[in-house]
Amino acid sequence: GMRFTVAIDGPAAAGKGTISRAVAAHFGFGHLDTGLLYRAVGAKGGDPAAAAAGLEPADLERGDLRSAEAGQAASRVAALPEVRAALVEFQRRFARREGGAVLDGRDIGTVICPEAEVKLFVTASDEERARRRWLELAAKGGVQSEAEVLADLRERDRRDREREAAPLRPAPDALLLDTTELTIDAAVAKAIKAIELRQ
Ligand code: C5P
Repeated sequence: GMRFTVAIDGPAAAGKGTISRAVAAHFGFGHLDTGLLYRAVGAKGGDPAAAAAGLEPADLERGDLRSAEAGQAASRVAALPEVRAALVEFQRRFARREGGAVLDGRDIGTVICPEAEVKLFVTASDEERARRRWLELAAKGGVQSEAEVLADLRERDRRDREREAAPLRPAPDALLLDTTELTIDAAVAKAIKAIELRQ
């Protein structure tokens, strides 16, 4: 059968989710938003390692997982090696699923799937990422200012880059995709081209 893994990493709100969903739809691959796993662990409360070990599908469907608070809680539990270890197998199994897989996160190309056929590291300027996330939150009735969103993203990225366990960084063989000046369509087209070249 066809097994093909696309690893998409990068800082918060750089466009990973949008690109991953579009690429998965284009090639008919499955998509796993791995940030949702850490958000669900953070939101569960109690002992984070136990929460990660006992994570269930219903935990991923809580309504409040996309908030800024859930993002901060996620990045705190994500620094714990026991939490990360408990989530590795599930992600690797998804990556090798029949029919192809796109996983987006922080450590997919470096730790979860170092053998992925395609690795992208998606970035954008801090200001552009804050603007996009602010627009997204404002559309949902969010009350944070753009400056608050920027401070929130920077704090989370700093924690994700500076932690010991699986820090946010590009794999040596990742293709860098800076979306600051790109439309969504242009960014998706570049990702699709990179994948076609490896098929
Ligand atoms: O991608 P998202 O913003 O939803 O991720 C929330 C948090 O989960 C990140 O800030 C990061 O701390 C953590 N995370 C991680 N490894 C991943 C995906 C997310 O550490 N593969």
